[in-house]
Amino acid sequence: MHKSLELNKANWNERAALHAASPDYEVAHFLADPTHLSAVVRFDLPRLGDISGLNGVHLQCHIGTDTLSLARLGASMSGLDFSAASLAQAHQLAAACGAAIDYVEASVDDATQVLDAGSFDLVYTGIGALVWLPSIDDWARTVAALLKPGGRLFLREGHPMLLAVDEDCPHELRITRPYFERAEPTVWDDDSTYVQADATLNATITHEWNHGLGEVVSALLRHGLALTALDEHQSIPWQALPGQMVLGDDGEWRLKDQPWRLPLSYTLQAIKL
Ligand SMILES: C[S@@+](CC[C@H](N)C(=O)[O-])C[C@H]1O[C@@H](n2cnc3c(N)ncnc32)[C@H](O)[C@@H]1O
Repeated sequence: MHKSLELNKANWNERAALHAASPDYEVAHFLADPTHLSAVVRFDLPRLGDISGLNGVHLQCHIGTDTLSLARLGASMSGLDFSAASLAQAHQLAAACGAAIDYVEASVDDATQVLDAGSFDLVYTGIGALVWLPSIDDWARTVAALLKPGGRLFLREGHPMLLAVDEDCPHELRITRPYFERAEPTVWDDDSTYVQADATLNATITHEWNHGLGEVVSALLRHGLALTALDEHQSIPWQALPGQMVLGDDGEWRLKDQPWRLPLSYTLQAIKL
């Protein structure tokens, strides 16, 4: 495996238990209420439409809260992640909720070795997923290979323009990070994670890559998908720019000052031709 991905996997394996225990991922709500959906999937609902009966796969499913939400909407779901610790949490949650979800452990680039190519009506992914992948072209090839003709990609992701902004600058929007995909990763050294947690991480080094919006669209077109929707949003489910954001009742963060200045996330949908 790519050295960067080994570093990232170690980091995600440490985060999994902290995330499952954190109020942010709402595991207790899923256990208490069989109709509970993650805030991420609740946001998606108007665009997602009726997914009951679809054969879906959630790429980079993490601890499975969004995967379970999609299953609760009636899709027959698989989830893929390269973090064994994340999948252990996902299995536990699905079992406790009586949901039959097929979880597989693999890197996204190896997805077609562990999942049936050409068999999925829906590939769902996003919310902090694409930054962990070095090549958007490889990702688009995998998405295309998983979908059956007519099948749909549903992607909601942090906007690459937001990811180019310096998050350590609380008073202004300052562009200091790559917008376009580069071979060299952006290297982070951080012992914290993005949820409320008591513990710190030992595996602190991670490698990330941004992918410009045009690069994402072009890669999908190159691999035989047709774009059907692209919505840019003024909100995002995590506090991406501390000091400059406010949390809404919908669980989404927005710029507190002139939120129309910057797209924070986007939803892209595409159909396999
Ligand atoms: C922020 S989570 C995204 C999932 C979802 N939005 C959530 O928050 O539950 C990122 C996930 O991507 C996984 N991941 C990172 N790189 C990966 C790769 N190359 N192949 C498979 N999974 C990967 C991590 O293990 C982690 O579970």
